[in-house]
Amino acid sequence: MNSFAGKVAVVTGAGSGIGQALAVELARAGAKLAISDVDIDGLADTERRLKAIGAPVKADHLDVTEREAFLAYADEVKEHFGAVNQIYNNAGIGYAGDIQVARFKDIERVMDVNFWGVVNGTKAFLPHLIASGDGHVINVSSVFGLFSLPGQAAYNSAKFAVRGFTEALRQEMMLAEHPVKVTAVHPGGIKTAIARNAIMADGIDADEVAANFDKQFARTSPQRAAQLILNAVHKDKARVLVGPDAKLLDLVVRVTGSGYQRMFTSFLKLSARKPAALHGTAGTG
Ligand SMILES: NC(=O)c1ccc[n+]([C@@H]2O[C@H](COP(=O)([O-])OP(=O)(O)OC[C@H]3O[C@@H](n4cnc5c(N)ncnc54)[C@H](O)[C@@H]3O)[C@@H](O)[C@H]2O)c1
Repeated sequence: MNSFAGKVAVVTGAGSGIGQALAVELARAGAKLAISDVDIDGLADTERRLKAIGAPVKADHLDVTEREAFLAYADEVKEHFGAVNQIYNNAGIGYAGDIQVARFKDIERVMDVNFWGVVNGTKAFLPHLIASGDGHVINVSSVFGLFSLPGQAAYNSAKFAVRGFTEALRQEMMLAEHPVKVTAVHPGGIKTAIARNAIMADGIDADEVAANFDKQFARTSPQRAAQLILNAVHKDKARVLVGPDAKLLDLVVRVTGSGYQRMFTSFLKLSARKPAALHGTAGTG
């Protein structure tokens, strides 16, 4: 059985990383793709890959923070393909910086893209997903939607919010008996450009952060991540933990409860790294 052949799937942030890999894997499974990003070059690269596979594709510049544009885009996609079955609210940005030094505008930007982008996408497409008779909302949170780390308050806030929003939505769809499934995605470290594209507070060495992330924490390939996500979508899982690190960290948090906070800070103190580097290692999960 294939949950994707002939289905119309929308992927935001499809010009790089997990979003690009999701679009490619969906195309391979026979889906029709509506892809979008703010990065036009990355988007064009994804479009080329999808066309090479032979998938029908509609590619558009879309900033997920622009609500009116998102609402109009949802109608355009419906008009173009005749129906919409799945939305992958994937677009996101990383952030590193302690609360004490973080600028309000940076915290707001992280919430705008990582949380409000998901809300905009979900609400814009929900009527079309319900009308399709076979809909699915897939919202990308993070392991950082399961536990918090110093230096990650902005990102943690957005990803916890995505998790809360998504878990409520799943129950609402079930209660109302709407034909829409809902899955929350919690990746661990995935080998993407997220650390290189992240917003950083003043005083953080961005190159060091990105190098640390790439070398030590990004373990799972985007392709593998996409395959695990699509497998969870196919099985209608409420939650998917992407990568062995995500599974381990989820276990630690469930076993220790709030005790993980003392555990992690003790580990961070012992590891004798500079705070900036530390935050960088955690900077993007
Ligand atoms: N890479 C990881 O380790 C990791 C871990 C957990 C969660 N995630 C989440 O996975 C999702 C995808 O990230 P990725 O790792 O593939 O990063 P990435 O930087 O490779 O890709 C993110 C894409 O989102 C796009 N984007 C950024 N802001 C946008 C906006 N306002 N509107 C539209 N598009 C925008 C970027 O241009 C980029 O193409 C994000 O939500 C991220 O938070 C990533």
